[in-house]
Amino acid sequence: MLAGRRIVLGVTGGIAAYKAAELVGRMTKDGAGVRVIMTRSAQKFISPLTLSTLSGHPVSTDLFGPGGESVPHIDLAREADLLVLAPATANVIGKIAAGIADDLLTTVVLACTAPVLVCPAMNCRMFRNPIVQMNIEKLKGLGFHFVPPESGRLACGEEGPGRLASVDKILAAAGDLLNARRDFAGCRVLVTAGPTREPLDPVRFLSNRSSGRMGYAVAAAAAERGAGVVLVSGPTALAPPAGVTLVQVTTAREMLEAVLGHFPQSDVVIKAAAVADYRPRAESLQKIKKSAGELRLELERNPDILAELGRRKGRQILVGFAAETEAAEENAMLKARAKGADFIVANDVTALGAGFDVTTNVVSLVYPDGRVVRLPQMDKKAVAHHILDAVAELRRGGAGHG
Ligand code: PMT
Repeated sequence: MLAGRRIVLGVTGGIAAYKAAELVGRMTKDGAGVRVIMTRSAQKFISPLTLSTLSGHPVSTDLFGPGGESVPHIDLAREADLLVLAPATANVIGKIAAGIADDLLTTVVLACTAPVLVCPAMNCRMFRNPIVQMNIEKLKGLGFHFVPPESGRLACGEEGPGRLASVDKILAAAGDLLNARRDFAGCRVLVTAGPTREPLDPVRFLSNRSSGRMGYAVAAAAAERGAGVVLVSGPTALAPPAGVTLVQVTTAREMLEAVLGHFPQSDVVIKAAAVADYRPRAESLQKIKKSAGELRLELERNPDILAELGRRKGRQILVGFAAETEAAEENAMLKARAKGADFIVANDVTALGAGFDVTTNVVSLVYPDGRVVRLPQMDKKAVAHHILDAVAELRRGGAGHG
């Protein structure tokens, strides 16, 4: 997976620096050209000689050579297909998040336009520190990729998250980044995700069990494949995927407004959100008090956003979802035809490992002409890639899968 690719590996000063030896060895064995940069602290944990021997190239450690000459850091940054920081300490993550470039490694990071894969390793209390977490979230938002640390017993004797991810995981993430398809470059994808909340009073609302995972996976996969992604999301506990523009909404009517605002500029719309079909007819301004008798709620219809997009649709490819508890494919077919979707992702939410608030899904892609493509259970990111493959086929003017 790494053959012929140029990887710059930045090693910073933590006990896990010794694992850089295995990482360099495995990368070079896979056929990658590896250039190692070590910070001053990293050299206290492992010798540059070890990593230069394993990589077959001198290790770079300073911005300036022994005679005061400048080390060609811009070349190192320019030539990289991928920059991996492993282990990445809290210190280096903080410096990058602040835009500081006070040594060779941080200077190369600032000058690098290739993807950057950050593999944090540190004491668990440091890792949980809100400052470190804010820095990580900031970098994710700026498009940096992360392999999270593992939990377990740390070198300091404490237990918790902070152990450098396994070399296998780091290599797999590096391979994914280097081999990512860019077939959506230049394409603008609008994704909806999560539930809507329909307020009853200042403290209560009607909603559903959507976690947002499915829609966020679609947004992340589209961004990885080069799309410009706008993610219109109801309330979720998820961090937005790297490189995606997040528009947060609460109610179905807010979602409608946000979606219609972005629709004309979009090439593809994928509607994974679980939009409430009904809302309370009246929203009480005060908390509704309980009384002795029953309470009857009157509900009124929310706008059907997908159907509205189907009516306005021009060149756009429109993909809907259908969460069903019976006859999923038949109902999805009716929805595809009624709402003008190019295809519907039919979701039997009663199936094991499918639907709301789980990490996997089991879906069928249902086309208005009656074709059905059934996918086995897989994680939501893999489902997202299948959906994008089907969209890519339609964009090429093909007949889709099946
Ligand atoms: O978020 P997760 O926990 O990962 O769960 C994923 C999911 C189950 C929410 C997702 O896979 C899914 O099935 N999403 C669609 C849920 C839904 O609302 O289905 P529906 O059959 O009610 O709606 C059909 C389509 O019309 C959907 O694309 C929906 O976004 C859209 N719709 C529905 C109602 C409405 N008022 N406006 C809409 O646009």
